[in-house]
Amino acid sequence: MKKYLYFYNYSPNEQAICEMEFKYIFHDNMLSKYYLTNQYFDYTRSVFIKGRLDIIKSSKSFDDIIHFIESNHMCYYDFKVIYLKNEITHVDYQESLQRCRDIAFPIDGSVNMQNPQTIFAITKIKETWYFGIYHNQTVWSQNYEKPHSYSHSLNIRDARTLVNIAVGNDLKLKVVDPCCGIGTVVLEALSMGIDIEGFDINRDVAYQARLNLEHFGYDAHIIQRKDMRTLTKRYDVIILDIPYGVYSPFTYQQQLSLLEGTLDLAPMLVLVSHIDMNKDLEKLGYQIVDQATIQKGNFIRYITKAIQK
Ligand SMILES: C[S@@+](CC[C@H](N)C(=O)[O-])C[C@H]1O[C@@H](n2cnc3c(N)ncnc32)[C@H](O)[C@@H]1O
Repeated sequence: MKKYLYFYNYSPNEQAICEMEFKYIFHDNMLSKYYLTNQYFDYTRSVFIKGRLDIIKSSKSFDDIIHFIESNHMCYYDFKVIYLKNEITHVDYQESLQRCRDIAFPIDGSVNMQNPQTIFAITKIKETWYFGIYHNQTVWSQNYEKPHSYSHSLNIRDARTLVNIAVGNDLKLKVVDPCCGIGTVVLEALSMGIDIEGFDINRDVAYQARLNLEHFGYDAHIIQRKDMRTLTKRYDVIILDIPYGVYSPFTYQQQLSLLEGTLDLAPMLVLVSHIDMNKDLEKLGYQIVDQATIQKGNFIRYITKAIQK
């Protein structure tokens, strides 16, 4: 029996980037908005995962599940039971309500619909019923209210996704964001317990980034004012959100010089760019392993994962 069922949600223009993140977390291809696996994953790391069902019992027979609950004398206080809709198998509303009642009835303890301590959930996918405890807390939105932000910052959703694409399941990797702006990526990585350092050449921006870190209780020195081309330390992976020249002039030659500057920093790069820089990445000795775009209105960002050959 598989242990976990993850429920995904994304908008159509996020599908490609969500699939890219999925690949680095589960090492599998994403076929639908639910994923059944034995792999535990802290689902709160991904902005695309609505929740995780920790499966207690699955069976083609609904009665088997009821029997399991009865024979295990399950007893919980302040619980509720919900039905999780999925895109594969439709169970109509009245039936789903009745199934929830049928599950709740043999569980001893007390029901609390408003403020449950435990959420049990059931769902039917193809011919199989899944019953378990559902977890759906969102922790990442807590970083929304940064004291300092600027208009070309990444948003939190994109920043978290970049971190996941960069490290996958290896939270021990040492990460650097060498053009960190006001520290969006740094903050998201820190919130996942990742060892990351950030740099920005601009004095004011680096200062504001440090204030942001302090605001959330992190060591401000994780961010330094430095030109990334002067860095000498080695890391495992770089997340580079390259300056676009949208508000202040930044030529393609300057962008290339920053890309060159990545070569001695780490063997792996996750690049955010407003144009496809694949040819130049390859010229520098990178091999492109993955690419997706994120579109906001007319503005497209290319997210490219590359490794040094
Ligand atoms: C696109 S912004 C990064 C935004 C950032 N990801 C955020 O969410 O706030 C690029 C940043 O690179 C910085 N930058 C430009 N040249 C640099 C260099 N040589 N070394 C370090 N930072 C640099 C700029 O000051 C700018 O803040």
